[in-house]
Amino acid sequence: MSITIKSAADIEGMRTACRLASEVLDYLTPHIQAGVTTKEIDRLAHEYMVNVQGTKSATLGYQPQGYPPYPASLCTSLNHVVCHGIPNEKPLKKGDIMNVDVTVITPEGWYGDNSRMYIIGDASIQARRLCQVTFDAMWIGIEQVRPGARLGDVGHAIQKFAEAAGYSVVREFCGHGIGKRFHEDPQVLHYGRPGTMEELVPGMTFTIEPMINAGKRDIKEFGNDGWTIVTRDRSLSAQWEHTVLVTDTGYEVLTLSAGSPPKPAFVKGS
Ligand code: MF3
Ligand code: CO
Ligand code: CO
Repeated sequence: MSITIKSAADIEGMRTACRLASEVLDYLTPHIQAGVTTKEIDRLAHEYMVNVQGTKSATLGYQPQGYPPYPASLCTSLNHVVCHGIPNEKPLKKGDIMNVDVTVITPEGWYGDNSRMYIIGDASIQARRLCQVTFDAMWIGIEQVRPGARLGDVGHAIQKFAEAAGYSVVREFCGHGIGKRFHEDPQVLHYGRPGTMEELVPGMTFTIEPMINAGKRDIKEFGNDGWTIVTRDRSLSAQWEHTVLVTDTGYEVLTLSAGSPPKPAFVKGS
């Protein structure tokens, strides 16, 4: 596989897919509350995508090599779940933190991928800080994106920031190119050294989606569903995800919509 460069028409397709992916999260936001089950959130998302947007979930039935088909329309990763949490019948409770990760496919075949953290009721100061630091880490990574920069610059900036806050970066999962396929080249590591890895070129589209643990970076599979990943030390984990485009002068965040959390104050660019 190699990195695809999107044409102006391709970019229009990606803008639409990514806005729709963000709008699914906007739609879900008021429903993500104590007492609601993650299965109900999944049901709402599925119905919205199919009946309101005319999109499809990219995760439903998704089956990479060596995995069972993913059984839901989104991922709900709660507390010490790092990623790929499967919606279930357990109600959310006050103090939980949860990542909701949505990827849509438009009728034209374009993919848009994004995730946000949700704080249920009054979470602990520690839990809220982890969510905030992870959000800022994602944006610090995004801020590195411009033609001529390298993916190692993105990973390094995220790692430096997260580790300075006392947290650790998960190494086993990474961001990814995206377009008419869910996971394309390149791999976007959330750690690394400046000046290494692929050089960025206008027209590339990829995700930046750091998974940050409050404790050690080690992870393990949980249970036997073939998907759920948790922190080995059971510490909390957070993640945010945007899909971005490399432009002639910098970047454009594609997964934005009316309900997107505003970018941090330190972000000057686009
Ligand atoms: N949306 C996830 C990502 O950011 C992938 C989820 S795959 C699933 O790449 F099958 F677990 F849903
Ligand atoms: Co992704
Ligand atoms: Co995702």
